[in-house]
Amino acid sequence: MPRIYLETYGCQMNVADSELVSGVLDREGYVRTDDPTEADVLLVNTCAVRDHAEQRVLGRMGELKRYKRPGVVLGVIGCMAQRLGPKLLERVPQVDLVIGPDGYRGLPELISRARAGGRTADVEFRSWEHYEDVPPVRPAAASSFVTVQRGCDYRCTFCVVPMTRGPERSRTLEDVVGEVTRLVATGTTEVTLLGQTVNSYNDGAHDFADLLRAVGAVAGVRRVRFTSPYPTDFTDRVLAAMAETVAVCEHVHLPVQSGSSRVLRRMLRRYTRERYLAVVDALRAAVPGIALSTDIIVGFPGETEAEFAATLSLVEQVGFDDAYTFKYSAREGTPAVKLTDHVPDGVAGERLERLIALVRTVARRRNMALVGTTHEVLVEGRARRGGLLQARTRNNKIALVDGPDGWVGTYRHVRLTGTTGSTFTAWPVGEEAAVWA
Ligand code: 5AD
Repeated sequence: MPRIYLETYGCQMNVADSELVSGVLDREGYVRTDDPTEADVLLVNTCAVRDHAEQRVLGRMGELKRYKRPGVVLGVIGCMAQRLGPKLLERVPQVDLVIGPDGYRGLPELISRARAGGRTADVEFRSWEHYEDVPPVRPAAASSFVTVQRGCDYRCTFCVVPMTRGPERSRTLEDVVGEVTRLVATGTTEVTLLGQTVNSYNDGAHDFADLLRAVGAVAGVRRVRFTSPYPTDFTDRVLAAMAETVAVCEHVHLPVQSGSSRVLRRMLRRYTRERYLAVVDALRAAVPGIALSTDIIVGFPGETEAEFAATLSLVEQVGFDDAYTFKYSAREGTPAVKLTDHVPDGVAGERLERLIALVRTVARRRNMALVGTTHEVLVEGRARRGGLLQARTRNNKIALVDGPDGWVGTYRHVRLTGTTGSTFTAWPVGEEAAVWA
């Protein structure tokens, strides 16, 4: 049986797409291997959102080509593949095939072509493609990703995703519920719904509110998460569905990008600072105790020191639980590359450091206030270091707790006993504690 080695970079949707790719190849009799030296097909599922992500992949290609014995196929798939297309074949001579996110169905065909010596790039958008008939091959786990929407119709001026993932389309609610039901049958209790602007989900008959309620109502689903929402797509219907669906967790990742209304306008984000803050208030009113995380870009073209200071003040004002922070990276073909008032790299780097320091301070303050509180956690596995179990609260805090292997994949109650500022130590409480003590 041919063996496939698959590496995944980037976002959760890429993780889910890699599960689909495994599904496509599984039907052809391929088996997965974790060892590139024994692979017949080497695939790298890539990200294009920042230049750094692409450089990493190029570096990795340089290493993977070592494993190209005669007959072995090397392929680049995903967003960087879509963005560069045939150029990637020119740039990296060892690459045999290049396939964008809508072309995975064609993988077996392109692999056979590569075996016959052909080198192909398929970067066609297929706006109907949901891979509905492809059962994803994923590890049986308590927590699973479910893609509900592909592509993006927003046009944030910094962002390459509309160029790499094509137009937005939603799976039908029935198809999503069907997949979730099948997942529950194999042990999943927590699902994370994925989409580029997931709360703009609409299948023509149902909106995201309907979807949350329907997924939350599947017997056996204990937790529902979703990522990433767009701030202004939290309609009253969606807020009500979040508040009333017991399974929907008390955490939202709410990318803000900047705290300055002028920068937001130049980014073509569809809200001002004030509107974003109003969405935060509405979420907190609907879901008491909700944790909020965000994405922030510093050094967008034309960002002044005062505008950056507005981002700092927004971080304070919202009190984010966590933030992913990035230096602006110019992406060829996006509207923002035409803006010429570049922020010098040194200035952007220094802003990033100040922002990271503030994010840490704010998060630590919030986390300190949670020490002593009791939470239901899903035990995810052994922590990488120290032999403790890693568990996650509904509001997305990571807690390390001492317990037996048998707890992995189960829900427990713990008291948070301390924090590093970002993660927690915890102690089992209630019945679990008595049994384990
Ligand atoms: N430069 C820097 N960061 C970016 N992101 C998206 N595009 C860029 C870019 N060109 C960030 C945004 C987004 C996250 C996934 O990546 O913050 O929310």
